[in-house]
Amino acid sequence: MLDDLYQQIILDHYRRPRNKGKSDPHDFVAKENNPLCGDEIEVTARLKDGKIEEIKFAGHGCAISQASASIMTTKLTGKTLADAETFITSFLKMMRGEHLFGGKELGDAKALEGVLKFPVRVKCATLAWHTAQEGITSLKDGAK
Ligand code: FES
Repeated sequence: MLDDLYQQIILDHYRRPRNKGKSDPHDFVAKENNPLCGDEIEVTARLKDGKIEEIKFAGHGCAISQASASIMTTKLTGKTLADAETFITSFLKMMRGEHLFGGKELGDAKALEGVLKFPVRVKCATLAWHTAQEGITSLKDGAK
């Protein structure tokens, strides 16, 4: 059971988190917490030529939340805001158990699908993604 949950990719991201810290300077910052446990994640990102040049996460939480945040940063780096939003939407759909036509485009992020077997942990796995979504939305709202 635990083998399923802590797959190799998840463990690797937990042990060697990518893009941990704060983007400085940054174009957006967002903070969200998991109401079930109070853990909080902050996401900062810097854009260049309409793409996410750098995206980082800070804060604390369980292994799944940290690994998921790390995976999120690797998947969104280099994407336009629109592509990042599409990717986040696909990921969140997967975490609701919706069919994704194989979900191949999700790459490493697909490893988190196993968390679906543990419904109480789904919020851990989606926390950083919701936070990034919030940051992108705030940027778009600010541009209006
Ligand atoms: Fe707090 Fe997972 S237990 S984020």
